[in-house]
Amino acid sequence: MSRPSAPPASGQAPGDPAGAAASAGAAPAPARPADHFADAAEVITRFAAHGYIADTRIATAVFLAERLQKPILVEGPAGCGKTELAKVLADALGTQLIRLQCYEGLDEAKALYEWAYPKQLLYTQILRDKIGELLAQTRTLGDAVAALAAQDDAFFSEKFLLPRPLLSALRAERRVVLLIDEVDRAEAEFEAFLLEVLSDFQVSIPELGTLRAAHVPLVILTSNNAREMTDALKRRCLYLNVGFPDAAREQAIAHARLPGAPARLVADVVRVVQALRQLDLKKNPSVSETLEWVRALLILSADELDRGLCVDTLNLVLKYEGDLERAHEKLGELFPAAGTPASAGRTKPS
Ligand SMILES: Nc1ncnc2c1ncn2[C@@H]1O[C@H](COP(=O)(O)OP(=O)(O)O)[C@@H](O)[C@H]1O
Ligand SMILES: [Mg+2]
Repeated sequence: MSRPSAPPASGQAPGDPAGAAASAGAAPAPARPADHFADAAEVITRFAAHGYIADTRIATAVFLAERLQKPILVEGPAGCGKTELAKVLADALGTQLIRLQCYEGLDEAKALYEWAYPKQLLYTQILRDKIGELLAQTRTLGDAVAALAAQDDAFFSEKFLLPRPLLSALRAERRVVLLIDEVDRAEAEFEAFLLEVLSDFQVSIPELGTLRAAHVPLVILTSNNAREMTDALKRRCLYLNVGFPDAAREQAIAHARLPGAPARLVADVVRVVQALRQLDLKKNPSVSETLEWVRALLILSADELDRGLCVDTLNLVLKYEGDLERAHEKLGELFPAAGTPASAGRTKPS
């Protein structure tokens, strides 16, 4: 997997779990076109240069998706880097990101294209006289309708077409990254429609004909697991589950996102967050919350996280009363102080 030509692992923090592959070699940037990756190791280094810390599993999925021209379905808890993965992929490939945010009720018109109805109406108003002249030559209602229909081309043309994200991605002049974000929020019918688009990357617009993608976009679908995706969609995609990162990667993420943060503070916060995730909470703190916590502690000029500071700021990462209570019960274990009963017989976590 590691090629000597891979650029150095710029921006990677100590203890990066991405492994030796990422740091192998110190040659200059590869001569190959920037819109391809040489291998998974290069995904790691180029992502790191854009502040995204990928492990080998994520990098391999991205590398293969690009090579196989297959969409990736990224599932996992909110706030663990799914959306960011698509953004960074576009940045790393030096291409445009086109985003379709899914929601309940999202339909083809909002995802693919629609006709600019108000504009069409405005034009018919302005061209009232012209249309009147055209219809004046007809005798029956049927003739009038036929005469009007013959002018369809004028009103159902590019001029009145409103491309939505899917169509924009298909018509782009170069390959783009298409992010179909939080696909689990849309209904299953929409998923069926998506499958159609993703299977042949072409759409048929009755008034204009069939449009085929000149450059198949690199598609990333994300899901927060609100509902199970269909087998058909999973079959079509490479599947990637991004869960919570391990401590080393979470620290690396914090350092990448908040370069000025003291190592001790980051290590403390990550240790506590990782421990909180073991507590069977209603809502586990995500990477976003880790970052938010470090950011807040930096504002408070902290260079480490002690028990008092933790008590005062825990509400930044835990948003349910029950979760806060559970966490408070565990503070003794998290911050064992010599002489306190809670710390008796325990070793301080590193
Ligand atoms: N591996 C990572 N490397 C760098 N930043 C990350 C990583 N994972 C998560 N983040 C950061 O965490 C935050 C949440 O990520 P986001 O992609 O919005 O989460 P999701 O889409 O999974 O809900 C963002 O600020 C993002 O930059
Ligand atoms: Mg997201």
